[in-house]
Parts: sequence; C-alpha cells; structure tokens
Amino acid sequence: MNDVVPPQTAHWQWLEKTIGTVLAGYGYREIRLPLVELTQVFSRSIGEVTDIVQKEMYTFTDRNGDSLTLRPEGTASCVRAVLEHGLLHQQAQRLWYRGAMFRHERPQKGRYRQFHQVGVEAFGYPGPDIDAEIILMTARLWRELGLGNLRLEINTLGTSEERRGYRDALTVYFAQHRERLDAESAARLERNPLRILDSKNPDMKTLNAGAPVLADHLGEESRAHFAGLRALLDAAGIAYEVNPHLVRGLDYYAKTVFEWITDELGAQGTVCAGGRYDGLVELMGGEPTPAIGFALGMERLLELIAANAAGETTEADCYVLSAGPELLGPAQAVAEQLRDALPGVRVICHCGGGSLKSQMKKADRAGAAVALILGPDEHVAGEITVKALRGETAQQRVPLAELAAAVRGLLGR
Ligand code: HAM
Repeated sequence: MNDVVPPQTAHWQWLEKTIGTVLAGYGYREIRLPLVELTQVFSRSIGEVTDIVQKEMYTFTDRNGDSLTLRPEGTASCVRAVLEHGLLHQQAQRLWYRGAMFRHERPQKGRYRQFHQVGVEAFGYPGPDIDAEIILMTARLWRELGLGNLRLEINTLGTSEERRGYRDALTVYFAQHRERLDAESAARLERNPLRILDSKNPDMKTLNAGAPVLADHLGEESRAHFAGLRALLDAAGIAYEVNPHLVRGLDYYAKTVFEWITDELGAQGTVCAGGRYDGLVELMGGEPTPAIGFALGMERLLELIAANAAGETTEADCYVLSAGPELLGPAQAVAEQLRDALPGVRVICHCGGGSLKSQMKKADRAGAAVALILGPDEHVAGEITVKALRGETAQQRVPLAELAAAVRGLLGR
C-alpha cells in the first residue's frame, strides 16, 4: 500500500483527467461506490473458487457481526449499486468509477495490495457494437497518453453452458496428463481447470498448447458475436491477436474477454482488462441484462508513462515576497487581487518571514515563473516589482492596477 506524494500526485491528476475526458467523449458518466461491501457481493460474483475470493480479500466482521470486505474490484459493487438504485429500469447505462481496490497479493513491481483502477461498465447492450466501442475507446486513450506499445488480446469464453462442456473436455485432457501438471495446476484441476491455461509456468506451455480449445465448444450465437466484434475491430483498423488461452481470473465473464498488454513492465504487463458478463446482473438479483466492462490498472499505466507523463509538477506560477512584517498584509492583499483577476493561476504568498534573498530562494524552489516583490517604496507608490524568474525579461515596477496584465503576459496566458 503506497503513499502518493508530490510531484507524483501531479502525474496521477493528469492521468485521471485525461481518462475522464476520453470517457466523457463516449458518453460515460461517473458513479461513486463505497470501498466496503457485504462479503457476499464479491464472493458470489467473482466466484468462490477464484484466487481473489479464496486468498486475497481483506475480509472482517464489523460490530454488527456482518462480514464485510474491502473491495477487490469494482464490477460487483457497480452491479449491486445499479440494481439498488433502479438504474437499469428500461434503460441502458454507460458508467465509470475510479479508486482504490484491495487484494492481499504477494507485492512486486506492478502488483500492490492497495492499487487503483478506473473501471468502465456498460449495461443493457447485447451486441458486439458496444464491445467494439469499448475497445476503440481504450485505443483512443492510449493515443492520448502517448502509449504506442500495447498489444490487444481478445478471446471469447462462450456462454456458461458452453463453458461447462469445455470444462469437462479440459478435465479429461489434463487428467490424462496429470503427471505433467505443476502443483498449482494440479490443485486447479478439480476446482477450475480453465485456470490451468492461465499458468505463468513455462513448463506448462507445451501441455497447455495441446489442450482442447473453447472455440470447438461454442454455439452459433457466441460464434456470431465474436465474429461481429472482429469485423468491427477490423473495420476500425484496430490490430489484435486472438488468444484462445485468455481466460481471466474472475468467474463472471462470458463471451468477449480482452486485455491490453505491454512487454515493458515484466510479468505484470496487463494494464487494462475486461470483458462481457451477461449473466452477472441476473445472478445478483436483477433482470437478465447484458453487460460489459473493463478496468485500467493506474499504477501500471503510470509506470509505463513515467517518462512522458505530464501534469503540473511545480508548486506555483507566482510567488509574492514582502520586505518586512508591516508589508505582510498588503502582500497578501496583492495575492488575493491576483487570484481574483487570474483564476487558475497558482499564487503563493510567502509565509514564515526571512530576508528577501531567502524568500527569493523559496520562489525559485517552488518553480514559480514570476516573483512579485513588495518593498516600502512600491507600497507607498501603489506599485509592485515584477521579476521574471525564467527567461530574460527585465524586472520592472508595475502599478497594482496593471499587475494582472503584466503577469498574464509573462506567463504567456
Ligand atoms: P482484473 O483483471 O482483476 O479485472 O483487474 C484489472 C486491472 O487492474 C489489471 O489488468 C491490472 O492492471 C490492475 N490490477 C489488478 N490487480 C492489481 C494489483 N494487485 N496491483 C496493481 N494493479 C492491479 C477486474 O478487476 C475487473 N473488475 C475488470 C472488469 C470491469 N471487467 C468487467 N468490468
């Protein structure tokens, strides 16, 4: 669980703002969800035999004796909320949320116990059009963020009935090769053989490569849906790879699943992952409702864009200095006047006393572009000295009435 301190917070703000703008551009609206839910909200939806539910949730009993869990992801909470507020009543919804998620995983680069996601969920759209829209939207986001090296993997998991047939075929296959399973995969054989395909163990590669593929167990509708998505992606010029072994670690998925992956972050290279979960709303007590979504891993994205992340990393644009305690009030009045005139310009008025020389050092350290110096002469004359801290512009005395214009000129705004 990490602190985020300045100047890194500026990169976070920039990333959040960029994402928010792209999502708004597609008509997605924000929903705010609590950090804690009844445990069953997650265990029922994510699946009792998943790693998340079995090993990773922060679960506790509260003072009422209720079992509560810090949210390990947002989809289950979002479904709970849209049902509770009747948001799916005869209407579709495009929603997004952001914030901290909690999983008790083994921490490593790109994997934390408190991490942050921006999640997107679209409810009420049955066809592949929304699948394609969501992928197009993420592709636009990568362009906005200047990320060129992400590859898209897609797969279809079919319906839950189709998966059951596939699951049986896998169980037979892996049982025939039981001696070649590593310990983790052997444990998964009974519980969830699909997850064996997800193994990161290189020794399992050949065995997995020879395993039955779900494509052979799909019905007509699932096939048509996937073909429809592929046609839309082709038409939009989005490159992708069909990875028949992409299964995802949460049970609620059906039909389309996808991940955006980078090779630049080592083992934790998935920066965005999601898929369709057509059965979940009904499972959680609602009318049958098709749905699809994804989540972005914010820490991983930030790590990836560290080199070219933008955002305001300085403290101030203007720094107001005053020569002596009797000028503190007037200096603060100048700063207030400037904030009135130039909203959005960041003004620090020096606090803590000290010589003009030491104040000037602080101005420089704050990254200010302009220093405003109020001495007794200036004060009497109703003026202030304006000094550019970057560039060659000569320092000048300016009547207070003209200060805003002078500062605007120096800041180039
Ligand atoms: P997920 O694959 O569990 O899916 O997580 C989505 C993304 O969150 C991952 O690809 C990764 O970038 C990031 N992430 C997950 N765990 C960690 C961790 N321990 N540390 C850092 N980053 C992490 C979901 O959570 C689904 N709710 C996504 C979804 C939304 N599907 C449909 N709608």
